[in-house]
Amino acid sequence: MSVTSLHALGVELPIIQAPMAGVQGSALAIAVSNAGALGSLPCATLSLDALRAELALLRSQARGPINVNFFCHSEPTFDADKEAQWRSLLQPYFIELGINQKEIAAGAGRTPFSHDAADALEEFKPEVVSFHFGLPEPALLERVKTWGALVLSSATTVAEARWLEAHGADAVIAQGIEAGGHRGMFLTHDLNTQLATFALVPQVVRAVQTPVIAAGGIVDDRSVAAAFALGASAVQVGTTYLLCPEATTSAIHRNALRSEDAQLTAITNVFTGRPARGIVNRLMRDLDYMNATVPTFPLATNAIAPLRRRCESLGRGDFSPLWAGQNVSGCRSVGAAELTRQLADGLPKT
Ligand SMILES: Cc1cc2nc3c(=O)[nH]c(=O)nc-3n(C[C@H](O)[C@H](O)[C@H](O)COP(=O)(O)O)c2cc1C
Repeated sequence: MSVTSLHALGVELPIIQAPMAGVQGSALAIAVSNAGALGSLPCATLSLDALRAELALLRSQARGPINVNFFCHSEPTFDADKEAQWRSLLQPYFIELGINQKEIAAGAGRTPFSHDAADALEEFKPEVVSFHFGLPEPALLERVKTWGALVLSSATTVAEARWLEAHGADAVIAQGIEAGGHRGMFLTHDLNTQLATFALVPQVVRAVQTPVIAAGGIVDDRSVAAAFALGASAVQVGTTYLLCPEATTSAIHRNALRSEDAQLTAITNVFTGRPARGIVNRLMRDLDYMNATVPTFPLATNAIAPLRRRCESLGRGDFSPLWAGQNVSGCRSVGAAELTRQLADGLPKT
């Protein structure tokens, strides 16, 4: 997936709009695709029906290739003791907001990539399939490759990049610690040894033969140029697209992004059970960002959901995951096509 192979696919600009579950659907991906870059559809929270409906929209409205993105975590095992401890930690909030624990849903909410999802993809044959948290099992990965899709996945360390290359990724997304949303980490749990984009990208470029896509803190033409100067073949940009009208970012999330609060982001596991970066809010602060009581990803989400709903109905984001990267200076309420063109000003001139 070098600049030339992106061109071969029909993508004019080596810019990928990062898949962002919860804040966008096909509309953002279509706008980016029609501006000449690669639009992405986050599929982690979509039902199979919703997945097919979104893919149909993309195929009818996007003029370029498309990227679909899945999580590939292991299915969690429900642990009743852990869940009880988690709910007892949250009990003061349930009382404060008048939540009956019967409102808490069961189930996982986010399902890993599966054969059912692959069946749906086969009907649409997306040109690019990207994964977060490693890669799916070999038989599933092979299915994706049968229609010739390029396979991408995120690496947060040099070791993860080498692993992805050895296990079939066609390109590696080097995700620096600045990045918004979930850390793609899958071989390590150690946040202390995670690298920033400027340190990660050149070391991954040296370590693997596959093309490297830089992600994390890339927000404008200058940071795009910097990523290419460090050896990246493409960039993946998330946070910067969050205020676009085509995104489905909530009003609470948009207000936080526009406020001084957005200067303060941190990595937390309290919303889902896995580390992710968002704007600091009450739940993150109260539970000390990384909390040992949280159930396994994504089961932590269930008990938070009614708190989030109640608070959002009161106009507050105290229990909402306000995912954002460290650099929000590129966030503007302009169309995704215009943002994409501005990012493209930083691409190397050919
Ligand atoms: C709101 C939000 C949601 C995200 N959701 C996903 C996702 O569903 N899948 C994924 O692979 N990456 C996800 N990411 C991470 C991005 O792929 C990417 O690594 C990150 O946005 C790059 O850093 P930046 O936010 O500083 O541009 C998300 C990021 C954000 C900001």
